[in-house]
Amino acid sequence: MATSTKKVGGLAGVNAGESAICTCGTGHGLNYRGYDIYDLAEHCEFEEVAYLLLREKLPNKDELASFKKELIAARNLPKELREVLKLLPKNAHPMDVMRSACSVLGCLEPEEYDVFKASFPNQQRISTRLLGIFPSVLTFWHHYHTSGKEINTESKQDSIAGYFLESLHQKEPKELWIKAMHTSLILYAEHEFNASTFTARVITATISDVYSGITGAIGALRGPLHGGANEAAMELISEFSTPEQATQGILDKLARKDKIMGFGHRVYVEKDPRNVVIKQWSKKLSDDIGDTKGLYQISEAIEKVMWDQKKLFPNLDFYSASTYHFMGIPTLYFTPIFIFSRTAGWLAHIMEQRANNKLIRPSSEYTGPDNKVFVPLNKR
Ligand SMILES: CC(C)(COP(=O)(O)OP(=O)(O)OC[C@H]1O[C@@H](n2cnc3c(N)ncnc32)[C@H](O)[C@@H]1OP(=O)(O)O)[C@@H](O)C(=O)NCCC(=O)NCCS
Repeated sequence: MATSTKKVGGLAGVNAGESAICTCGTGHGLNYRGYDIYDLAEHCEFEEVAYLLLREKLPNKDELASFKKELIAARNLPKELREVLKLLPKNAHPMDVMRSACSVLGCLEPEEYDVFKASFPNQQRISTRLLGIFPSVLTFWHHYHTSGKEINTESKQDSIAGYFLESLHQKEPKELWIKAMHTSLILYAEHEFNASTFTARVITATISDVYSGITGAIGALRGPLHGGANEAAMELISEFSTPEQATQGILDKLARKDKIMGFGHRVYVEKDPRNVVIKQWSKKLSDDIGDTKGLYQISEAIEKVMWDQKKLFPNLDFYSASTYHFMGIPTLYFTPIFIFSRTAGWLAHIMEQRANNKLIRPSSEYTGPDNKVFVPLNKR
């Protein structure tokens, strides 16, 4: 057996490359391309932030209007993709539906590689296409498999936030909900070398196409240690009927050494800066709908006991769960919403990787056996 020195697992604390897209982590705050997340969350629509990530500057009014037009045009679902969505099982996990749809779109509208220029000339157009189409994928599949209805993608809503809510509920959403959704999408849009973004960069670095990068990223996002945590947090909150019950329930889980989903973070030590913003929205929506189940109070009780017992703080996923729930969004769609948003960050990283590409291929430390005597098949 080769000798092994103990290493920190999961590449924690390892600087895996340079990026000009985002700073995050204790001591850095959270910035997208140099702009404080609090300014962006308070003053912007999601589309402004997506533009910033993809095109490296905040848009002026005309640029934003024309970007939004492109996104609206990109909502349309090709006939073949509709057929695939109809064939996918009703009980498929929506993240599997999203991952499959992305891959299918890559077959229908493949990305071209210019071998002479060694570049992908259509990456901006495909980026807009992906951002625009993902909400349509989810809501088309949802309605077909819940009511047999094939919805169309026409809508007066000019934003991804408004369009998704309208398309899901099939009625005009409240302004308050649209604003909450914009903020949530902005907070989720980008977070440096997280697991899904890093996956997208590894795939991109082989000079693969954008659909492969995004499909892989969706796969990485699906797990409960990453994006799937918002779904898991909702299941957790729903287990309890009162704050007292929640406090005791969490104490029991901690005693069993269970992981509490929606708490803790690899790069933050004391708090997730996004939490304060989404928590305010959870409260606002709880008040707005007259939350009779007291889910907000239950969430706060969980937050308190986690801090008292473990000094663990809620991450963005925790209060996103109740925020989405208050807008009538089914729990299984929480992580797909993360896709609608993080696609902007993934695409920015794909483009950045391409602009200065180097194959990502680290080494491993061998810990297996050495010098084994080979035995031919007929003697084993
Ligand atoms: C995000 C996360 C994966 C970061 O993990 P990490 O940096 O690898 O840290 P670890 O999982 O090794 O946790 C370190 C310690 O804190 C504890 N811990 C971390 N998060 C915890 C949580 N959510 N609930 C209970 N204990 C937790 C671990 O059990 C471990 O304790 P130990 O040292 O006594 O074994 C982790 O905090 C987690 O699993 N959180 C829940 C899932 C989640 O919300 N993910 C979304 C992240 S945005």
